[in-house]
Amino acid sequence: MNAAIRAAVRMGIDRGAEIWGILRGFEGLICGEFQPMELSSVSGIIQRGGTVLFTARSEHFKTEEGLRLAVDQIQKTGVEGLILIGGDGTLRGAIALEERGIPTIGVPGSIDDDLWGTDHTIGFDTAVNTALDAIDKIRDTATSHERSFIVEVMGRTAGYIALMAGLAGGAEYILIPELPYNLAELAAANQRAHSRQKRHFIIVLAEGVADAYGLAQEIARRTGVEVKVTVLGYIQRGGNPSAFDRYMASRLGASAVEQLLDGQRGQMVGLVQDRVAITEYQEAVSRRRPIDQDLYRLSRTLGL
Ligand code: F6P
Repeated sequence: MNAAIRAAVRMGIDRGAEIWGILRGFEGLICGEFQPMELSSVSGIIQRGGTVLFTARSEHFKTEEGLRLAVDQIQKTGVEGLILIGGDGTLRGAIALEERGIPTIGVPGSIDDDLWGTDHTIGFDTAVNTALDAIDKIRDTATSHERSFIVEVMGRTAGYIALMAGLAGGAEYILIPELPYNLAELAAANQRAHSRQKRHFIIVLAEGVADAYGLAQEIARRTGVEVKVTVLGYIQRGGNPSAFDRYMASRLGASAVEQLLDGQRGQMVGLVQDRVAITEYQEAVSRRRPIDQDLYRLSRTLGL
């Protein structure tokens, strides 16, 4: 997100605009936590994880009162347009602001990678690489000790991190919320691998599918093979961003401010086949990027 903020600030200033940063997302919008942004405000942040503007999950903004306060703050300070970086919830917030006459442009930022209108969301690639690093390390210990593992990655409703990290990490099995799984088949695959002296069996589990510990117990009960669990959790949401994330965020942050200054609004800027693509909010929130079932099938074959 920092790369997107940096790009928006620098492109905006280059185009002659005055740029303000809003701290703590919708919460800061409601409370009027605005700060002027200069070229130097975004110096040395491109390589940093998180966001220098901080963020918040705001329940208050979802209320009529919260929204009214936010609009009041925007009008009071004379802000003429907003760039919002985030996932589905952020875009829905942007729609609410648009409905009250505030011009906005959205930038897709989420590790989940599930937004329609962009090939990827900012943060996904970094999260996948973090998960991949963990899978590689777990494979070392799994192989040495001849163990089965469940590695739980983030994704309550989206399996992209699990699918990509699992495929790239050579996982024996991947479980994602979008596709049903068969416990008997999973246990049998584990058992088969064990009987042919495969020294590791790694299951990459998206958090929304099942409780990792319960699943491990159930597989162990059916196979007699112990299954260890590693839950990666919030380490997937931090760390230095990957080259691809910085590249995409730089292009989208810059493009967002250009769109706004050119009078566009109510749209999300995404990257589709390496080109900036515009999607109306309504379309972006009403559709979901479907999981690629061929990729899933490929992972099953390669994990044999
Ligand atoms: O939507 C992004 C995401 O990181 C999910 O993958 C994860 O399940 C969720 O956010 C965690 O949300 P919270 O920070 O509210 O615990």
